[in-house]
Amino acid sequence: ETVPLEMHKVRVVQKLNLPPIEARLAAATEAGNNTFLLQNKDVFMDMLTDSGVNAMSDQQVAAMMVADDSYAGSATYTRLEAKLRDLFGMHWILPTHQGRACENILAQVLVTPGSIVPMNYHFTTTKAHIVLNGGSVEEIICEKGLQVTSSEPFKGDMDVAALERLVAEHGAEKIAFVRIEAGTNLIGGQPVSLANMAEVRAVCDRHGLTLVYDASLMADNLYFLKQREDACKDLSIREITRRIADLCDIIYFSARKLGCARGGAICIRDEQMYQKMRGLVPLYEGFLTYGGMSVREIEALTVGLEETMDEDMISQGPIFIEYMVNELDRRGIPVITPAGGLGCHIDVMRFLDHVPQAQYSAGALASALYIVSGIRGMERGTLSEQRNPDGTEPLANMELVRLALPRRVFTLSQVKYAIDRIDWLYQNRALVGGLKFVEEPEILRFFYGRLAPV
Ligand code: F0G
Repeated sequence: ETVPLEMHKVRVVQKLNLPPIEARLAAATEAGNNTFLLQNKDVFMDMLTDSGVNAMSDQQVAAMMVADDSYAGSATYTRLEAKLRDLFGMHWILPTHQGRACENILAQVLVTPGSIVPMNYHFTTTKAHIVLNGGSVEEIICEKGLQVTSSEPFKGDMDVAALERLVAEHGAEKIAFVRIEAGTNLIGGQPVSLANMAEVRAVCDRHGLTLVYDASLMADNLYFLKQREDACKDLSIREITRRIADLCDIIYFSARKLGCARGGAICIRDEQMYQKMRGLVPLYEGFLTYGGMSVREIEALTVGLEETMDEDMISQGPIFIEYMVNELDRRGIPVITPAGGLGCHIDVMRFLDHVPQAQYSAGALASALYIVSGIRGMERGTLSEQRNPDGTEPLANMELVRLALPRRVFTLSQVKYAIDRIDWLYQNRALVGGLKFVEEPEILRFFYGRLAPV
């Protein structure tokens, strides 16, 4: 049995509370059974997300102390720009306040009414921006990607034949851009292979299409490439990063996940493309040398990007996630396999097979898990979808409760506590019923909608 080993030591700590179960039930009810609406003081292990909550290194904190605080021409920004050019080999950089801000700019510039954006899988904010600009998303994940239990190493791969078919059917001029998401968020943090990216690139070359890479979850994906793809075994993480970048026209990312701070950036190969996007940065983000980030965040991000090239650093998420997934699997608890990045994903269609999808089974399980453990996870299923324009409810391909493992935050004994509580809930799953909306916002309803037991 392999036990994950922390390749760091803890030097700054934050006290946690574990409120009694009666208080947790009251807090869940108060929050409309939506884990986004819980107060963190009522949460023991916050596994909602890995966004903006990864641990910082001593080097990052130190760099924050020497930031150059100027509105224009900050040396801090120059350091970030140089690091991104160095890692991705793309010259033109635009800073933003976070990942969805990149998506806003990309969609405003590239998406026209009636255009299509093929992608391995959508992310909530990505899709919302594309739809807002009159486009639509075509998910062309490979067949193995939606098989919940599997031993496939690269379930995030795109179906290249389906991409060819889309181009043949609609014509290349209808395709706004092709998007590959590293570590596919909504289907279990599953990685994309380099070989698949090269095939997608070849299709883009044949038809003159722009290839955009969402690198928000790239750190995990890099580790999986090194571990799982033969062609990457003898490459350094830095070399793999460059191989990926060389296949892309544009790379954007949420620095809340990559680089471990706040912010985001768009890296662009072509100057003309950069010129088209540049004007939107001062309009929505801030001046071109901070883009809505504070200089301290930018310094931490620059160091964090370099630390992402360290295999001992990027292994921490995947090996802790693998431990958790394998321990749950061993107990017969339905989880997405193989273990991916981001976190552990519970397969709620099997966990709560008595609760229909239309009763938001994954939302119900997320709320129940909080009540029995003080652990906050996130619903990733039908509740996270948007209603169709005609008001009908699109049932999600997967109903998941995502238990994110913010990198280098939780210890192994905390992970064991989570496993123990999930096991208890699985043994007592008949206690959990469905939910219905009592307050349903129109846009991104999962963030602040309120629900009650049916
Ligand atoms: N792309 C991916 C793949 C993401 O996972 C996220 C955020 C974004 C874009 C948007 O970036 O939050 O900085 O605006 N994912 C977070 C999560 C919200 O919890 O999974 P953002």
